[in-house]
Amino acid sequence: MKSLTKKSGKNTDILQDAHGRIINYLRISVTDRCDLRCTYCMPAEGVPQLNHSEILRFEEIEAVVRVGAELGIKNARITGGEPLTRAGITSLIQKLSVIPGLKDLSITTNGVLFSKMGFPLREAGLRRVNFGISSLNSDIYYKLTRSSRLPEALEGLEAAIKLGFEPIKLNVVVIRGINEDLSDFITLVKEKPVHVRFIEYMRIGAADYSSSFVPASEIRRQIGAAVELEPLNAPVGCGPIQNAWRVSGGQGSIAIIAPVTEHVCEYCNRLRLTADGHLRPCLFSADEIDIKPALRPAFNTEMLKSLFVEATQKKPGNLRETTDFGRSMSQIGG
Ligand code: 5AD
Ligand code: SF4
Repeated sequence: MKSLTKKSGKNTDILQDAHGRIINYLRISVTDRCDLRCTYCMPAEGVPQLNHSEILRFEEIEAVVRVGAELGIKNARITGGEPLTRAGITSLIQKLSVIPGLKDLSITTNGVLFSKMGFPLREAGLRRVNFGISSLNSDIYYKLTRSSRLPEALEGLEAAIKLGFEPIKLNVVVIRGINEDLSDFITLVKEKPVHVRFIEYMRIGAADYSSSFVPASEIRRQIGAAVELEPLNAPVGCGPIQNAWRVSGGQGSIAIIAPVTEHVCEYCNRLRLTADGHLRPCLFSADEIDIKPALRPAFNTEMLKSLFVEATQKKPGNLRETTDFGRSMSQIGG
């Protein structure tokens, strides 16, 4: 295999892809299960679930992240499905939060279990969290998630504020005719230290996609008409600063994530690890590398390293939306 080693030595930017991008961010899906059924993510009946034996154990995930960190992975995000439904998730956070070289560890959650788990997660070393709550109105939330658990999700968000998580981000997937009125979120940003990110709806096997899609330009127009925006001059967490604003007089910020109409592959710095042990070079490509042979029956550090390099090498230069993700969003983790 062609070596992509840029510099030798520990904790430097070793993973550089064929297009010159440094890979330093790993998104780790710890489960494909979820306690919600968001319409933009999965069908009402859910998706076929992975067998228990296929799912990586925490020691295996820890080994992967340790090796990744040696190769220059500095940021890791835990995703799902819903990561808080995985038993013992705080012990994984504990294991990962002490890995040398890993500077930033975060989690993406729907928030439903967060009011109970925020404190132990913080004790385990977690400092920042992203919530996915696409409406603050219970009827609309029900339409979007097929669930009435909005009060629990909002308790989770409040708990994160009280516990001092920082930054706290809130993902909102914008769907035409359902949650396209964004005014509640603008009020939230004025009142709370919450960074709201409006996300363009991506087609992932979802029915009725085109009539539901709201482009970033329209989101920008709506928020610009509602509130005075000040461009951010420093990033929030690891996020990009373009397309992000502080709201006059507010504590939080607003950003737009436009994976469909303004997608920029040039700055992509990530790999994804699926719950069943596949490294995914690109969200938009079904291409994956099975790393289980490097984990079972025994850890093989050298093999893991070369699989990281291979996944990096396989990152496409420029891919946009696709209809063939190979998996559902809940199995990739966003
Ligand atoms: N389009 C855009 N974002 C999505 N997410 C889930 N499904 C989609 C989709 N079809 C996002 C949600 C969730 C994160 C894990 O992925 O915001 O918070
Ligand atoms: Fe669950 Fe998140 Fe998918 Fe909603 S978007 S069904 S909360 S994994």
